[in-house]
Amino acid sequence: MSANPPPALPTDLTGRVVFVAGGGSAAPGWSIGRAACVTYARQGARVCVADRDAASAQETTALIRAEGGHAYTLVGDVAIEADVQRLFAEARAHFGPIDVLHHNVGIGQTGGPLETSADDFARIHAANVGSLLLCVQQALPDMLARRRGAVIAISSVAGLRYVGYPHLAYSVTKAAVVQFTRMLAQQYAAQGVRANTVVPGLIDTPRIAGTVAKMFSDNLEEARAARGRQVPLGRMGSAWDVAHACAFLASDAAAYVTGTELVVDGGLTGKYT
Ligand SMILES: NC(=O)c1ccc[n+]([C@@H]2O[C@H](COP(=O)([O-])OP(=O)(O)OC[C@H]3O[C@@H](n4cnc5c(N)ncnc54)[C@H](O)[C@@H]3O)[C@@H](O)[C@H]2O)c1
Repeated sequence: MSANPPPALPTDLTGRVVFVAGGGSAAPGWSIGRAACVTYARQGARVCVADRDAASAQETTALIRAEGGHAYTLVGDVAIEADVQRLFAEARAHFGPIDVLHHNVGIGQTGGPLETSADDFARIHAANVGSLLLCVQQALPDMLARRRGAVIAISSVAGLRYVGYPHLAYSVTKAAVVQFTRMLAQQYAAQGVRANTVVPGLIDTPRIAGTVAKMFSDNLEEARAARGRQVPLGRMGSAWDVAHACAFLASDAAAYVTGTELVVDGGLTGKYT
């Protein structure tokens, strides 16, 4: 054994530029994207907070700056190519080349094939998967030029399993996110770029109040409790539970992790029923 001490866990992101696509929150409070932005900044990263909702992105930036961190607000729709080109140009002009891309946006609509129009299916695909392509097209050249980079894409357990009610377009696009990211990881591993998917389970973020909670009960507190009871760990996850997994994958602590999925679900997908 070497006389040198073993290395400390290298979670520091000082000097790294992290672009978060969807760094706001659908409603007041801690979304996954917002918690991830704050976590990256706490690790020393300079964070580009991109969202189509200007006020929400600005709130995330303000939270980071209030802690003494570095953040910059970018406003645009990441499903629109011209917007994505502009957002990344602004990000580079402000902070420099992108080291980490965190693709966070995800929209959905409950219903199966008979309740989902082709237009809605295409819209949800453009938002959840098309935007991933557009963001990767922008971030990848920066990473390849320096032979270093990490991509973190956010999927969902709905992309791996039937979650108890029809959520077709969302589930199919979230499955696509997983395979897109695996493909990316394989193609660019030799050039220093890692790519992984984080797969959140049932997470207690502000947006669930207006969407999936209704699948459980009209009463929000009952719905939250019912959602939590499904989970082996006995509770829904918090946005921070997911953000911490993202921060690990963004850092050199995950230097040997690529092309895989980190499931953050309190044991949900391992359960029989
Ligand atoms: N909350 C959960 O239970 C849960 C579970 C599994 C997976 N997820 C996934 O985690 C991610 C974050 O979830 P959340 O609950 O924090 O969501 P959220 O809706 O609060 O946050 C998403 C943010 O992305 C922004 N956004 C959406 N479409 C955009 C676009 N085209 N261009 C720019 N910005 C856009 C929204 O304005 C919002 O601020 C999503 O991908 C979601 O599918 C959530």
